[in-house]
Amino acid sequence: MRIAIVGPGALGCLFASLLSLKRQSDKDSLLLLDHNRERAALLNKQGIIYETDSKQDRAMIPVSVELEPLALSLRPMDVVLFCVKSHDLQRCLQSYLPLLSPQTLLVFLQNGIGHLDIQGRLNVSSTPAFASSSEGATLLSPGHVLHAGRGRTHLGFLQSPVALQQQQLEKLVLNLQEAGIEASLSKDIRSHLWAKLFINAGINPLTALYNRTNGQLLTSCAARGRLKNIVREAEAVAKGCKITINVDPVQATIAVCKSTARNISSMLQDRRNKRLTEIDAINGAVVREGKRLGIATPFNDEVVEQIKKMENEYNLGTATK
Ligand code: PAF
Repeated sequence: MRIAIVGPGALGCLFASLLSLKRQSDKDSLLLLDHNRERAALLNKQGIIYETDSKQDRAMIPVSVELEPLALSLRPMDVVLFCVKSHDLQRCLQSYLPLLSPQTLLVFLQNGIGHLDIQGRLNVSSTPAFASSSEGATLLSPGHVLHAGRGRTHLGFLQSPVALQQQQLEKLVLNLQEAGIEASLSKDIRSHLWAKLFINAGINPLTALYNRTNGQLLTSCAARGRLKNIVREAEAVAKGCKITINVDPVQATIAVCKSTARNISSMLQDRRNKRLTEIDAINGAVVREGKRLGIATPFNDEVVEQIKKMENEYNLGTATK
């Protein structure tokens, strides 16, 4: 399978390194795409370093900048997995259009639900797939990922795909499983995306505001109380949207805090690197849906406001990408 992963962030590097380290067939090719030329050069030299508590491996994966000959030689890709932030999607889609064909399966792995309307914004006819992952990954430095906690990855379509796209997704799931990623196909990806949204809504803004790891969040009564209130509000909004909820969202969020205790959430990583956060796609989406349905969301309103204030305080103009 020809797989391109867009975005060498924590999850992009995690999936790329695991896929590459397990890759056996000569017919398989894996490419990492990055818009940042300097970083792509560094990663081509250094490789992607995959670290766990007990080991460190190095995966030499070709990293290409947009339309370089390397990327073009592999086109069309079978699968393009977008591991960029929700607010970067539009720009990425335009850049990588020449690598796609009508058969290419596009898979979107973003936090939040701000990207679920992506099909309407795409200039391609194929049905996109969506993924939700609870893997705990922290980027220690460019291309150096710490796999801090094991999670699960669900993949599925929001609309019925054509048979070929379904087969591509099934193949991708197999590839991920062979790479040691606990991946599965879902018939109700929307409920998984919301299940992840509850977790992100509870953990991400609070870890960023309190400057704590996921596990440390539970040691503060104030933070724990806010986490529960934020998630309960999101749950009420989800019920208003008729989303199937299979496990108690507060319990699930607390369980993720524990299983990824050492993890620095993506929003805290954004804060430390002075980057724009995904607050709009996460708690902002809860607030927007709440307003639409007439459901009050004061705890989510509060964190949205605080995170936006925090973003304004650091100079986004000089932010590291
Ligand atoms: O955004 C994140 O950091 C992750 O989605 C999660 C699951 C909260 C773990 O840190």
